Amino acid sequence: MLHRLAFLAGLALVAAFPLAARAAGAPPQVPLCASCHGNGGISGSPTIPSLAGQKQGYLEAALADYKNHKRLGSSADMMTGIAAQLSAADMQALAAYYASLKGS
Ligand code: HEC
Repeated sequence: MLHRLAFLAGLALVAAFPLAARAAGAPPQVPLCASCHGNGGISGSPTIPSLAGQKQGYLEAALADYKNHKRLGSSADMMTGIAAQLSAADMQALAAYYASLKGS
């Protein structure tokens, strides 16, 4: 019985995460990023950029610029708070992850 419960709980957990988060090597922040930037880094919104297939160095620099208040504006402000939570290692991992995905 316990076994069965643990199995069901595991299934529920897996189902709760978007597809991108389960891909091998996806950094832990990816489900949050996907809520705006789309699954697989392809944005469905006209005002939010896709990240998939973008240059790693560009993505990493953009994240650092948001964190350091060098990219400003009403849309950029959405990223400032998010980037503030990321370490340099997080930014590097996220940039490498999104650069590795296939763009649209
Ligand atoms: C609340 C919505 C939201 C979330 C969540 C979000 N972003 Fe963004 N992101 C945006 C918007 C809007 C922009 C465009 C901002 C601008 O005009 O500079 C953006 C821009 C970016 C850019 C610059 C892209 C470019 O082409 O210049 C990067 C890189 C980025 N986000 C990475 C991330 C990462 C990594 C995460 C998860 C840790 C994340 N974002 C979470 C809304 C979001």
